[in-house]
Amino acid sequence: MGKTVSGFSKLSKKEKMDWLAANFFKNEQEGIATLEQYFNKNSKLQQLHDEFIENTISNFYVPYAIAPNFIINGKTYAIPMAIEESSVVAAASLVAKFWSKRGGFQAKVIGTTKVGQVHFMYSGDFENLSTYFESNKLKLIAATDAITQNMKKRGGGIIDIELKDKSTELEHYYQLHVTFETADSMGANFINSCLEAIAKAFETEGIEVVMSILSNYVPECLVRAEVSCAIEDFFEENASHYAQKFVQAVAIANAEPYRAVTHNKGIMNGIDAVVLATGNDFRAVAAGAHAYASKSGKYKSLTQAKIENGKFHFWIEIPLSLGTVGGLTKLHPLAKLSLEILQQPNAKELMEIIAVAGLAQNFAALKALTTTGIQQGHMKMHLMNILNQLEANVHEKKQIVKLFTGQTVTHNAVAKELHDLRTK
Ligand code: MEV
Repeated sequence: MGKTVSGFSKLSKKEKMDWLAANFFKNEQEGIATLEQYFNKNSKLQQLHDEFIENTISNFYVPYAIAPNFIINGKTYAIPMAIEESSVVAAASLVAKFWSKRGGFQAKVIGTTKVGQVHFMYSGDFENLSTYFESNKLKLIAATDAITQNMKKRGGGIIDIELKDKSTELEHYYQLHVTFETADSMGANFINSCLEAIAKAFETEGIEVVMSILSNYVPECLVRAEVSCAIEDFFEENASHYAQKFVQAVAIANAEPYRAVTHNKGIMNGIDAVVLATGNDFRAVAAGAHAYASKSGKYKSLTQAKIENGKFHFWIEIPLSLGTVGGLTKLHPLAKLSLEILQQPNAKELMEIIAVAGLAQNFAALKALTTTGIQQGHMKMHLMNILNQLEANVHEKKQIVKLFTGQTVTHNAVAKELHDLRTK
């Protein structure tokens, strides 16, 4: 049974660790050594990490990798990815190379509008509410002047405020639906500050503000990425057959939500890895993407494919609310470096790059699934994880990797070969 504690946040890092060790660790010294292994005492970086969140006792690392050779709108990119899952980066690299020989990826931002809402309760007459709103609309916008001043200089600000009647969905519920342009920042703090100022200026007798918050559903902050090629270039052999199977695989994800969720999860493998590597909010992006996948009322694929006039077409449309300034983008040294690797994109370019990373990942998954199956590539990458779990040394790893070239990798088979090697 775990123990409760009071004043935990006020303890020093060492005291926090000691408390954890005494109450939860099987082996206190080993547990503390594991925590210590991942932090760098007294470094500036550690201080920065400690100030990102509360109660920091260590850092949780994920691998940071590069998928090179992406050609997007004619420009070549090496894409940084932060992800722990075997084969995601390898797949991205292979797909980048595949499409670089077929004209590369095309990407285009469709819109950049973001949304925030003031949710409130009102039990009076709607006409009166509407008149009150219309006569105060300019005052509501003026209430944000101090906050929007800098954003306006960067081409952003409030686009519009609408009054929405939601009382048929929930009794007495209305909202101010506010649209924003946030230029190169993701804009969460900016939007929330504006909303709170608007709510304060709007609240009056009879209007009870419940909450003011941005929406992570951003269907108008949308980007499209695509690839296309002549069918005969799709595959070395039997190209038309495999192109059709690929299109069917996307159709299945559109028809069947159980499949769509996995299909879209594969897309998010690519998207989230770059979102994280660039210091953006992957939870916001994931929530918005899955909501968009359900926009028709049924959860569907985020990608589409077709064969038309002898050509294979494959594309994605996905809402991505991202920043290349503000937030962690300049503060986290690796996020800053990621943006440098990506040649300092603005937010729109980053939307295009990240949509491509998602499309590429889905292409890799569907190509594997409709041909050899995914386990061949996946287990090949997973072999190292198995060997590490079995505590194989460098020499043993070399031998086993050689042995499994072209062979099916399973945990048991690897354990057996390692055992044989060790007992030889
Ligand atoms: C695994 O992380 C992702 C896949 O399952 C995606 C898919 O099935 O399309 C391979």
